Amino acid sequence: MNKREGGKILTVGLSGGRTPSDLYDFVAGCPREFPWEIIHMFLVDERFVPIDQPESNYKLIEDHLLKPLALSGNTIHPVMTEGLSMDEAAAKYESDLHAFFSSPPDVPSFDLILLGIGDDGHTASLFPGARELNEDTRLVVPVKTDRIPHERITMTLPLINNARNVVFFVTGKNKALIMKKLLYGRNAELPASRVRPTKGSLKYVLDDDAFSNLDFDSITGDVLVEDYR
Ligand code: 6PG
Repeated sequence: MNKREGGKILTVGLSGGRTPSDLYDFVAGCPREFPWEIIHMFLVDERFVPIDQPESNYKLIEDHLLKPLALSGNTIHPVMTEGLSMDEAAAKYESDLHAFFSSPPDVPSFDLILLGIGDDGHTASLFPGARELNEDTRLVVPVKTDRIPHERITMTLPLINNARNVVFFVTGKNKALIMKKLLYGRNAELPASRVRPTKGSLKYVLDDDAFSNLDFDSITGDVLVEDYR
C-alpha cells in the first residue's frame, strides 16, 4: 500500500539509541491514545546489523512498541540490512520511501520525525564533520566510518528538514552540555544545529536533567521541559 491509496495515515520517522526506549515504553502504556492502525513507522537511521541483533534500531522499536502493542508488521518499514551492500540498502530504503509516499521527484514529507542527540551533537547518523552532512540530493545514505560503532544507514538533512514536525527528545544530565551548546550557540559544526525544517515545526522536549544548563530567558527555540516518567 502506498500513502495515496491508504487514505488517512500518519508517517513517523523514529530514532534509536537508549533515550527513546523509555519514551516508547511510555507510549506503549497508553495504547488507546494513538491511532496505531494508521501510524506508519520508518527508521531515521539503522545500524547495519541483522534486525534480530540487540544493536538494531528496528529491534528496539519491535521490543518497546510493536510487541507491547501487538502491532502487526504492516505499519513498520525496516531498513533491509541483510543480503544487500550498504549502498544497495540505502538506495532501496530511499526507493521504498518514494514508493510509499508516491513522491518522486518530490522529497517525502513525514508528519513527524523524532530525533535524539549524541553528546558530540550528532543526530540520526549524521556525525560532526561527516560528508553525509553535505548530502543535498540523496534522502538516505550509508555511513561507513570507523569513528562510530557499527556501519549505518541514515536519513539525510533534505529528508529530515522536509518533515512537518521535528522533535528532539533528550534526557539525562549527560546531554545538558550539548543542549546548551546547541540552544545557546547555534554552532553550525553541530549536526543537530543543521536540523531546521524548511516548512515544519521544530521542538525540543527535554527532561529536567537535560535542561539543567539552560534557562528559558536566554534560549531560542521551542523548548518544552517534560518529565514524563
Ligand atoms: C542511533 C540514534 C542516534 C541517537 C543518539 C543519542 O541510532 O543511535 O539514531 O542518533 O539518537 O546517538 O543516543 P542515546 O539516546 O543512546 O543517547
